[in-house]
Amino acid sequence: MRASTVKKAPTTTPARPTESIFDALRESHERQRALCRQLLRSKPHTADRLSIFTALRIELAAHAAAEERHLYVPILMDDRGLSPARHALHEHHQMDELVEDLQVTDHSGASWMATAKQLSHKVHHHLREEEKKFFQSSGKILDDALKMRLAKRYRREHARMVRSLQTA
Ligand SMILES: [Fe+2]
Ligand SMILES: [Fe+2]
Repeated sequence: MRASTVKKAPTTTPARPTESIFDALRESHERQRALCRQLLRSKPHTADRLSIFTALRIELAAHAAAEERHLYVPILMDDRGLSPARHALHEHHQMDELVEDLQVTDHSGASWMATAKQLSHKVHHHLREEEKKFFQSSGKILDDALKMRLAKRYRREHARMVRSLQTA
């Protein structure tokens, strides 16, 4: 088997002193997009397909948990944030269900790839909506000092979740 070209599961970059929560989140978004791309190109019956899927599953779960705790929660506390945060949480749940479907079926069949495409489509839609709408409305709710504190908390939580999912 050729050497794996799969991006290793998420590592944690320390927060830059002036980094905002949105910069930190975008870094994971790029990782998610790259892993989706690699997954759709992966060949059936290869170890690569499984390791890419595992890396994507861990990145999605760690990102969603850390984002919900350190962006959605403070946004939900503001009346203006209720509706967009509920919508985004619903999409996290839909992605969870697709990941669950991908964990229980044969990784090489056509139906597995059809579900993987659905997941990739959903991930791209969700990230675009967060970056184009949710981050803008959240930016008006949070002050600059809080945006920086949340970046540090998000990164710590993301790293903790990755460690715990990798050993699960
Ligand atoms: Fe996100
Ligand atoms: Fe999200």
